[in-house]
Amino acid sequence: MSTDTLTITDNRTGKSYEIPISDGAIRASDLRQLKLDPQDYGLMSYDPAFTNTASTKSAITYLDGDNGKLLYRGYPIEQLAEHSNFLETAYLVLFGELPTAAQLAAWQHEIITHTMVHENIKHLVDAFRHDAHPMGMFISAVAALSSFHPESSQIFDPEVRLLQIKRLIAKVPTIAAYSYRHIMGFPYNYPDNDLSYAGNFLQMMFKMTEQKYKPDPVLERALDVLFILHADHEQNCSTNTMRAIGSAHADPYVALAGAAAALYGPLHGGANEAVVHMLAKIGSIANIPAFMESVKRGEGKLMGFGHRVYKNFDPRGKIVKQLAYDVFEVTGRNPLIDIAVELERIALEDEYFISRKLYPNVDFYSGIIYQAMNLPTQMFPVLFAIPRTVGWLAQWAELLNDPEQKIARPRQVYTGSPARDYTAIEGRK
Ligand code: ACO
Repeated sequence: MSTDTLTITDNRTGKSYEIPISDGAIRASDLRQLKLDPQDYGLMSYDPAFTNTASTKSAITYLDGDNGKLLYRGYPIEQLAEHSNFLETAYLVLFGELPTAAQLAAWQHEIITHTMVHENIKHLVDAFRHDAHPMGMFISAVAALSSFHPESSQIFDPEVRLLQIKRLIAKVPTIAAYSYRHIMGFPYNYPDNDLSYAGNFLQMMFKMTEQKYKPDPVLERALDVLFILHADHEQNCSTNTMRAIGSAHADPYVALAGAAAALYGPLHGGANEAVVHMLAKIGSIANIPAFMESVKRGEGKLMGFGHRVYKNFDPRGKIVKQLAYDVFEVTGRNPLIDIAVELERIALEDEYFISRKLYPNVDFYSGIIYQAMNLPTQMFPVLFAIPRTVGWLAQWAELLNDPEQKIARPRQVYTGSPARDYTAIEGRK
C-alpha cells in the first residue's frame, strides 16, 4: 500500500476508502466517494472562512506562519526590502524571476508610459462629494477603466492580458492621487515620468506650485519599501476575491475593483486606519492598561494584532517598525509611536495575547508612518491597494493559466426548511 494515502473508514457504512495525499493535501472531491447510497451527493468538507482549505496551487508567495517567513518567488521579504525596489519586485512577483538590467529598464519604461488615465476619469472622481472616502473613488475609477479598455475582456490573449497588467500597475497610483486631491480640494497633478514609481506617486499627491517636485529620498524609499512589503500575501481575503471574480472570466479591471472592495474592510486592509483611530482614542500611555482590560473583556479588538496565518510574528511588522523610526528622522516623531510601542510591549507579555498567539501585524506600524508623512487616514487602504495590485494581477494570471481551475463555486450545508407548499396570505399565522 502506498504511504502517501489516507485511509478513511465511514462508520455509517463500515466501508473503508484510500485517498491519495499529494503536496500535503487530499482532494476534497475524493471525499465524495463516501456515500450512504448511490443517490447521495457524497461527503463534503465543511470549512467556513476556508481556514483549512487550499483553493489553488500557487508558485508566487510562500508564507510560513509558525516561523514568520514570507518569500516572494523564493526570495525572503527581508532581502527584497533591503536590496530591491518596488518595480523590480513587481516584475519578480509577476514573472517569477528577478529581471536582468535590460529587462528591468524595459519594464520600468513600459510602466511609466501607462501612468496617465483618460481625462474622463477626472470627471468621474469630480462627481464624488468632497468628503467621499477615497477608497470609494478608487474602487469606482478602477472598475470604470474596464469601459475605457474594452479589449481587456480578451483575458486569454497573453498580449492583451499583459497590456492590462501594465496599465493597472501604472494607473493605480494616478487614481489614488486623484482621490486624495479631490478630498483636499486641490487640482490634480499629472504623472512625472522622470521620477521613480514611489517618487511620482508622492509628486502626484503633494506637488503644489513648484515647477519640479523633488521627493524626499528617505520618504520615497520608505514608501517604496512599504510597497514591496504589501505586494502579495498569497490567498488572503482580497486575493481570494480577485480569483473568485476572475474565475468567472470577468476582465481584470472589474475583478480588481472587487478585490479592492474586500481590502477596504477593517479586518483586512482597513486595519491600519483602525489602528491609528484606536491609538488616538487611547490618547496616552496611562490609558493603555484600562484599554487592554476592555479588549480582554471582548469589548473590542486590539487592531493591528493577530493574523490568520502568522502565529509567531509577522516579518513585515518588524521591517515596518524600523522604517517608522527612519521616517520620523525626516518628518518628526509621531506621538502615537510611543503609545504603539508600549501597547506592543504590554501585549507581548500578557497571557491573553500570548496564549492566542497574537502579534503585531504589518498594519500595526504602517498607519503611524503614513500619518507622519501627512497622509490622511482615509488614504491608508488606498496606499495598500496600490502595491497589492501587483499580487492580485499575478494571482489572476496564474489562475487563468491553471488548467485545474474552474468557476469558483463552493458548496453549502443546507440548514433551512424542507420542501413545503406555498401558503396563501389568509392562511398564515
Ligand atoms: N485583539 C484581541 N483579540 C483577538 C484579536 C485582536 N486583534 N485577534 C484575535 N483575537 C482573539 C479572538 O477573539 C479569539 O479569541 P477566543 O479564542 O477567546 O474567541 C482568538 O484571538 C482567535 O482569533 P480568531 O478571530 O479566530 O482569528 P482569525 O484568524 O479568524 O482572525 C484577524 C484574524 C481577522 C486578523 C484577527 O486577528 C483580527 O481581527 N485582528 C484585528 C484586525 C487586523 O489587525 N487586521 C489586519 C490583518 S493583516 C492584513 O490584512 C494586512
